[in-house]
Amino acid sequence: MLRVLVCVSGGGTNLQAIIDGTKDGRITNAEIVRVISNNRKAYALTRAEENGICAVCVSPKDFGDREQFNRAFMDAVEEAQPDLIVLAGFLVVLPKELVGKYVNRIINIHPALIPSFCGKGYYGLTVHEKALERGVKVTGATVHLVDEGTDTGPILLQKAVEVEDGDTPETLQRRVMEQAEWVLLPKAIDLIANGRIDLDRLGGTVGV
Ligand code: GRF
Repeated sequence: MLRVLVCVSGGGTNLQAIIDGTKDGRITNAEIVRVISNNRKAYALTRAEENGICAVCVSPKDFGDREQFNRAFMDAVEEAQPDLIVLAGFLVVLPKELVGKYVNRIINIHPALIPSFCGKGYYGLTVHEKALERGVKVTGATVHLVDEGTDTGPILLQKAVEVEDGDTPETLQRRVMEQAEWVLLPKAIDLIANGRIDLDRLGGTVGV
């Protein structure tokens, strides 16, 4: 049984898709063992609690400096003994030590077709604003391995979504979430949990 830890910062619709997937059979051989948020007000924490999942808040605001936060965050992760860490709308830079310890074991959902509209500053609604500004006809979402960069790890899955006339950043974001994010993340977890994706082969040599 794959032990999955999910990191969240906001509404938790991607977390909800994972929870639903474990209940409706789209995800097998996996269980969410903990949800961690940096944001005490994140509705994602409520979604976890409503589903009997251990929900923990580790907020940078609660610590004197980044080092102390990083330590507390690492402790909260390691306590759960995850096999896979899923960043689902998580907006905090991960401690380098965590990325180094969980090589090829952290995945992220990005609301665009990487390498488009990704990297520093490209998160949330901004991604869709830039896509509309550029005038792309197709966008989508990407699940990728997390490495030390921003949205730079190997790509696992992608799904395209049509941009429609009259789209606003909000309508486009909603369509990308419904048609791509909420499909790809459960699918990626199920493929990993059932050995259909070998993260070490995909991610290259495991850290020495
Ligand atoms: C969404 O914009 C999603 O694309 C990105 O994080 C944001 C919040 O997602 N990954 P959620 O509703 O908190 O899952």
